[in-house]
Amino acid sequence: MEDTIAQKLLNWYEGQGRDLPWRVKGGAPPNPYVILVSEVMLQQTTVKTVIPYFERFMERFPTVESLAEAAINEVYLYWQGLGYYSRARSLHQTAKQIINEYKGVFPTSKEEVLKLKGIGSYTAASFLALAYNQAQTVVDGNVIRVICRMYHLTKPTKEIMPQIREKAELLTDKSSPADYASAIMDLGALICTPKNPQCLLCPWQAECRSRGEADLEAIPYKKQLAKPLKQGNVYIIQNSHHQVFIRKRTQKGLLSGLYEFPWSEEKLFSELPQQDTQKEITHVFTHFKLVLHIYKIQTEQMSEPGQWVERENLSNYPFSTLMKKVGRYL
Ligand code: ADE
Repeated sequence: MEDTIAQKLLNWYEGQGRDLPWRVKGGAPPNPYVILVSEVMLQQTTVKTVIPYFERFMERFPTVESLAEAAINEVYLYWQGLGYYSRARSLHQTAKQIINEYKGVFPTSKEEVLKLKGIGSYTAASFLALAYNQAQTVVDGNVIRVICRMYHLTKPTKEIMPQIREKAELLTDKSSPADYASAIMDLGALICTPKNPQCLLCPWQAECRSRGEADLEAIPYKKQLAKPLKQGNVYIIQNSHHQVFIRKRTQKGLLSGLYEFPWSEEKLFSELPQQDTQKEITHVFTHFKLVLHIYKIQTEQMSEPGQWVERENLSNYPFSTLMKKVGRYL
């Protein structure tokens, strides 16, 4: 029988997963205190930064009792440089809570875990999956990227979190949730990276709907910022010989080398009689949106740089998409 999607990931993890100091390999039960400390450190900090802090911290506070008994200033000392110091304070309070209210035994229900200081729904899920192998779905930044790419979800992430969560839950392996949680985080960190994802090495390459797609690296999409609006005027200038006046863009940058109908953000040719067509075209560039109002001018002579071209021959000149839109109003 073919492996399930989750099983393919678990097989990959067995061979390629990261060796991290808070992970136990070979099926030994994890220590919930170790998992808690690492998950809290990893909340806003990368794995690479966390590792040496985690090792020093565990050496000084190897058990939940030792942390509960420590003075907060010493805990801060070991947190120095990791940032977000409220995490250290919350972790210290949690250790005291575990000793004083839970007799040193960590709770195992989500409801109880959420009562611990500094534990939100993300950390509660990862703690329960990793410490107790509970079927909880972990959705962090790595997982969001993997899921959005797997299903080619291209709306801004913030708008589709329920959909991402649902897909992530459906994929979660219910028989090995702990390894699965670590595996999908590792897939995001090692293979399905923001830039240059290693699709050829990916255990999900056959199922991934974004593989080979041009927008692969753009996924997950962030919310589009509103683009600034630029406005201008464009002039369709014709003479009585069925010729149209165009010019070649010479300035460097935007659309350089292409031909265009004269246009500007200011009004041009105010000395010539103009017909306001009341029409406008809109074009969206990477960093702004341009609206051009179209004017028509009938004249025999132009003193501006540019050239007269037979109407029928206009198609021999390269125009940008923007200017082709203008050409429809000839
Ligand atoms: N990010 C959050 N938790 C993690 C973990 N246990 N391993 C790797 N990255 C993580």
